Amino acid sequence: MSLRERTEIPVVGDDGSHIDPSNSCSPRRSLSNSSRGYERASRGLTRVASASSALSLVSNPNLSLLDSELQVVEDCKEFPVVVVVVGASGDLARKKTLPALFSLFYHNLLPLSFAVVGYARSKLSVEEFRSSVSSNLVCRVGDRECCEAKTRAFLERCFYFSGQYGSLEDWLNFDRWLSEDIEPRMNQSDIATRGARRAPGRLFYLAIPPSVFAETLRSISRGAMAPEELGAWTRVIVEKPFGRDSESYMALRDLVAECFPEEALYRIDHYVGKPLVANLTTLRLGNFVFDALWNRHCIESVQVVFKEDFGVEGRAGYFDAYGIIRDILQNHLLQVLSIIAMDPPASPHAADINEAKLRLLYDIKPLHAKDFIIGQYDRYRSERGVPKDSCTATFAACVVQIDNERWRGVPFVMLAGKALDERKVYVKVAFHETPNHTFIPEELRDKRNTFYIEIQPRPAVELSFITKTPDLEGRVVQTKLDLVYNESFSAEAQDMPDAYERLISDAIVGDRTLFISDAQISRAWELFDPALKELERDPPVQPVIYPYGSKGPILPETLIKKYMAGRMQD
Ligand code: BG6
Repeated sequence: MSLRERTEIPVVGDDGSHIDPSNSCSPRRSLSNSSRGYERASRGLTRVASASSALSLVSNPNLSLLDSELQVVEDCKEFPVVVVVVGASGDLARKKTLPALFSLFYHNLLPLSFAVVGYARSKLSVEEFRSSVSSNLVCRVGDRECCEAKTRAFLERCFYFSGQYGSLEDWLNFDRWLSEDIEPRMNQSDIATRGARRAPGRLFYLAIPPSVFAETLRSISRGAMAPEELGAWTRVIVEKPFGRDSESYMALRDLVAECFPEEALYRIDHYVGKPLVANLTTLRLGNFVFDALWNRHCIESVQVVFKEDFGVEGRAGYFDAYGIIRDILQNHLLQVLSIIAMDPPASPHAADINEAKLRLLYDIKPLHAKDFIIGQYDRYRSERGVPKDSCTATFAACVVQIDNERWRGVPFVMLAGKALDERKVYVKVAFHETPNHTFIPEELRDKRNTFYIEIQPRPAVELSFITKTPDLEGRVVQTKLDLVYNESFSAEAQDMPDAYERLISDAIVGDRTLFISDAQISRAWELFDPALKELERDPPVQPVIYPYGSKGPILPETLIKKYMAGRMQD
C-alpha cells in the first residue's frame, strides 16, 4: 500500500485554508541573523522578487524586495522536499549538484524536512553512496566541529536507489520505496509538529547524458510523480545541451512536453546563476550613469569573452560532437549578452525579465559562417577520443549585430576558447572616443573609457578613465576605479555561493527568474543554425590551428577593428 492510500493527509494549511500545490509558499516570518548574511550573498543583492514576494511587497510597503524574497525562502522551509539526483554517480552530480545541496543545508537554506536521493544504474549500498558523496563535500566557512556535525547530519538524509533511467518498472519501484520507506520518515520528523500537512514535493535533478533525457522523463512522469492530490508539486531541473540545433531541440522539447508542463521545467544555464551575472541587471539599471549611457550613442563596442586555460580532458566524446559554439556561445555567452543588451524589463518579475531577454534575442540578426573565426588548439586531435581529422572548433569568435534603436551599428563580440593563455570570463563595454581632444595627449587618443566586468576568476567591476598623476609632472594617464569583490566585500566573498546553489534553491522555492524558457532556447538555436550548417557543411570549414596556451587565433579588439573596417574575412 502506498503512502497515498495509507494516510489521509488533508491538503489544508494551519489556518484551514486550501493549499494549492502549484503555488510556491507564502511569506510568514523573517530569517535569523546568522543565515541572513549568506542569504544576501546567495540570492544576490541584485536579485529581483518572484511574483509572490512582489505581491507581499505591495501589501507591506515597509519590506524591501530582498527582505520579502528572503521571507519566501524561509517560508518554504516548512514544506518537505525530496531532491532526486538522477545520475547520482556521474561527475556533474558528484562535483556540483550534491556539494551545492550540502552547502544549502550547511547554511540552513534547505527545507527543515528534506531528503536527497541518488538514483543511478550502479549498484551501490546507501553507505557506499554516502561515502562517495562525503568525499566531495566542503564547508566553505565555519569551524571544523560544526562542519563535521553538519556533514554527518546531511549524509543521514542521503539515500540511494539503483535503477535504469528509462525503465518504467524501476521508477514505479522507486516511487513505492520513496513513498513507503523514505517520505514517511520525513513526515515523522520535525515537520509534523509544525503542521505542514502535505506530501513532500519532488525535485528531480537530471544529471544524465542528453541521450537519455526523454525516456527518463517519460518514465518519471508515468511512475514517480509526487502526489498532487496531497498538495505536492513535481519539478524537474535539466541542463544543457538542449539539442544540437533547432530541429533536434524541437523534437526533444515535444517529447518532454508530453510528460511535463513548461511550469514544471527548470532549465539551468549555470552562468546565469554566477554572482556577477546575477548582478548585471542591477549594475546596469540601478545606476543612472550606466543606464543613461547604455546605447549606441555612447557605446562603441561590447565584448563577452570566455577563456579557459585547459583543453577537453576527459570530455572529448561530448565535446567533439558539440564544439565550442554549442558548448559556450549558444547558451552561456548569449545569456550574458542578452542581460547586458535587453531593454529595461517592465518589472522585476521573472516573466518580464524573460520577456525582455526574448525580445532582445529577436532583435539579433541570425549568424552566418562569415561572422565567425573558428580555431582548434594544436593538440586537440591527439586528445583521447578525438578523431584524427576532427574539424570541431575549440575556439570561436563572432560579431553579433543587434538590429534595434538602442544598439544598431554596435558590434557585440562573443569569443570563447579552450586551451588559451588564461582562465577568465568577462564583459567589456567600450564607450566612444571622447570628442574633446584638448586634454588628451596624442598617444592616449585611441584609449576609451571602458566598463569591465570580470565574472571569474576574480569577480570585479572596473571603470577606466583618463586622469592626471598628482605629482608636479602631472602626466596624463589612463587609470581605473575598481570594485574587487574579494576586497570590498571581503566577508561575503569568502562565502560566495556556487551558481548551482542559487539555482537549486530557486527551483525549490519555485522562483523561475534565473531559468531559461523554451522560447529563449528555440530562438537561440534559430540564431546559430545558419552558421553551424555553413561551418559544418561537407567538407567542413577548417579551423585555424593555434598553439595550446596561446591567446588564440584572434583577439576581440582585432575582431572589432576588422568589423569596423568591413574586413571580417581578411
Ligand atoms: C560547461 C561547459 O557548460 O561550462 C564546459 O560544457 C565549460 O566546457 C564549463 O568548461 C565552464 O563552466 P565554469 O563555471 O567552470 O566557468
